[in-house]
Amino acid sequence: MALTDPVARGRDHHHDGGREHRHTTADDDVSKRLLESAATLSFDPSTEIDWDAPLPGGHYGLNPEWSTLYGTRLWDEMTERQRVTLTRHEVCSIMNTGIWFEMILQQMVLRDQYLKDPASAEFQFALTEIADECRHSIMFARACAKMGVPAYRPNKLIAQAGRAYKALARGELAYGGILVAEEVLDVMQRDWMRGENVLEIVRGTSRIHVVEESRHMKFARQEIRERMRYASPSRRRASATGIAMGAYVIVTSMVHPGVYKAAGLDVRRALAEVRANEHRKAMMRTSSRHLMAFLAESGLLTSRSAAVYRRVHML
Ligand SMILES: [Fe+2]
Ligand SMILES: [Fe+2]
Repeated sequence: MALTDPVARGRDHHHDGGREHRHTTADDDVSKRLLESAATLSFDPSTEIDWDAPLPGGHYGLNPEWSTLYGTRLWDEMTERQRVTLTRHEVCSIMNTGIWFEMILQQMVLRDQYLKDPASAEFQFALTEIADECRHSIMFARACAKMGVPAYRPNKLIAQAGRAYKALARGELAYGGILVAEEVLDVMQRDWMRGENVLEIVRGTSRIHVVEESRHMKFARQEIRERMRYASPSRRRASATGIAMGAYVIVTSMVHPGVYKAAGLDVRRALAEVRANEHRKAMMRTSSRHLMAFLAESGLLTSRSAAVYRRVHML
């Protein structure tokens, strides 16, 4: 009888910094399916994207509705040329944040899998994900070089916070941070890949990213569920706050203030209009809906973490 219970059939014990978590056969099935999917549908951006095609002058970097200034008075005052420049810098800034985050992610996942059973599907999918991220970062780097936009980096304080997070975060904290970044990017990229007036290089790279990241998000949700299954209320609350703080950093550093200068705008005025932009806030809330539902279902949406998400309009 007990053998039919997936939890009782648990065959593997993992340690998260002294905190044990039991890995079941049902858990492993998720990784197995993800591995099969990766074998069937993965991309090599170096051949999938036409890197030599010229960039049509009038095409945006991202759909105007995804511009941080869309819907503001400043946007209405801007010339079409400025809008094209702004959206190209915005998309490159987001891609640079993506590269930064993928580097953090690769190190956290590698550390999480340290000395785990190489024969397990979980181990093999985790390494497949790292390989995906490695290709993604090179792809984003090439796309930004092609658009002629220099690297936008997070400020020193945020860069140090990222360094600490990737060195210390484990278990649901690591996979929670990963999930937040992947979910937020996913919603935007689903629109970018369909945008008719969006540069083909952005549409193509987004298409690849959306397909491969959907597996990463399933994996992250699974890893979080496994960790939360036996988590104490205090650990759950602490992790909820930690993930929310990670989300705060990710969302607030996505678009660098330098993009407004590049478009020939008054940076202070632009930042003020972005902060007050109701359209932007609504877009953030819509794109976070799925993530918030998952966090609530996992017990990771506490009153404390909800307050943080509300501050960045994810809730
Ligand atoms: Fe990625
Ligand atoms: Fe990913």
